[in-house]
Amino acid sequence: MKNKNKTVWSNRFSKGNSRSFQRIGSSINIDKRLYKEDIFASIIHAQMLVKQRIIPKKDGIKIINGLKKIEKEIDKGKFKFKEKFEDIHLNIEKRLFEIIGQSAGHLHTARSRNDQVVTDFKIWIKNATLDINDVLNLLIKSILKKAEKNIDTVMPGFTHLKNAQPISFAHYLLAYVEMLIRDKKRFLNNLELIDECPLGSAALAGTSYNIDRKFTAKKLGFKKPTGNSIDSVCDRDFAIDFLSAAATCAMHMSRLAEDFIIFNSEAFSFINFSDKVLTGSSIMPQKKNPDPAELIRGKTAINYGKLNSMLTIMKGLPISYYKDLQDDKGLVFDSYDTLKDTLIMGNELILNLNTNKNNMKKMAQKGYTTATDFADFLVKEKNIPFREAYVTSSKLVNFAEKKKVRLDEIPLKDINKFLKKININNIKIFDVVSSMNSKTSYGGTATKNIKGMIKKYRKEAL
Ligand code: ARG
Repeated sequence: MKNKNKTVWSNRFSKGNSRSFQRIGSSINIDKRLYKEDIFASIIHAQMLVKQRIIPKKDGIKIINGLKKIEKEIDKGKFKFKEKFEDIHLNIEKRLFEIIGQSAGHLHTARSRNDQVVTDFKIWIKNATLDINDVLNLLIKSILKKAEKNIDTVMPGFTHLKNAQPISFAHYLLAYVEMLIRDKKRFLNNLELIDECPLGSAALAGTSYNIDRKFTAKKLGFKKPTGNSIDSVCDRDFAIDFLSAAATCAMHMSRLAEDFIIFNSEAFSFINFSDKVLTGSSIMPQKKNPDPAELIRGKTAINYGKLNSMLTIMKGLPISYYKDLQDDKGLVFDSYDTLKDTLIMGNELILNLNTNKNNMKKMAQKGYTTATDFADFLVKEKNIPFREAYVTSSKLVNFAEKKKVRLDEIPLKDINKFLKKININNIKIFDVVSSMNSKTSYGGTATKNIKGMIKKYRKEAL
């Protein structure tokens, strides 16, 4: 076999790998996505080797120029990835030999693929985290805009999917802003733990060369080098943290999607979407279906699955590096791609969402949603203990139910029959809008609060 086609480890092997193992064992189709990170880390490693006089300067320069050339080849789609060379690291190393000859042999001094891959992967996840953060900001901005237009849009708030109390549609939307802000924090918190550079841990034991790990860590954008070479090559907590943040974020998006599917149904008719985000049916001509919302809900399963797979890979893995770990990258890439699509679709849904304000208000008036307000009124205005006021209000609801009227349709004289010793001559609290605006406690649904919160989110969260 010509040198060119030999794997780097072939000298100890009398036979080549079987075809099927070569195909299954190779990860190049997945980890080629790490080429920029791999080249970046290799350049910094070479700089450090030169600085420390571990390799000759002239070889270091050749290596760096060769690596830059390879990066351009890959950028332009001119690089031939070979399954035979397993992964991105060996594909690049092989090509470097082709371009600069034997000087390429100096690059792998004082490192192993074990520390190399985890360094590349950490850098990739850091960038992916910032990218997700940007898309989250975009989505939060769109929700805030939609909320601003719906501060006065009253709808029933639900518990158990039964009408509970009148709320503003903006307040409902802002609940998701809170969730998404927590998601942002969760992703950004991960950046703190991931901020240690594993490069220089080599295979698992560290190295006898006089390397400068602080230099490489700093140049690669990490706060400091990792503290234990064994842990460094088999720690995948940072991948689990990313997958976990992604799973939680996808769960929030799935709830939003589920709400939208319900609100968009004929039974509810609270909202509708413009045709841009709807699909038709192949048999029922009348249909307009909210597919993006259903896809968001469905794809959450992918984000959960990837997290579960990563946790399962790790649970029985003896310390330190095993090939099981090779599948970590595909899981994270899939989770990232899926979540990004989910957030983009979520943003599209928000932009194309219209509210049917009349339907929402009508529904808010159903189900005696102001019964609590009546009890509160008796407590505040008439000094009745809440439990007693609650009983009086339940009786009024029973009465309305029997008479088949809404609470605001009961004549004052009938209301007064339920009250001992006191008399009411004017009552506004049955109005759903006044009910909504009476919830002025911090975090409540009153319009005044909502306006303040939108301002606060714009100032602090973006
Ligand atoms: N492609 C490998 C991975 O992703 C790189 C590390 C290989 N290390 C080894 N000892 N075989 O895990």
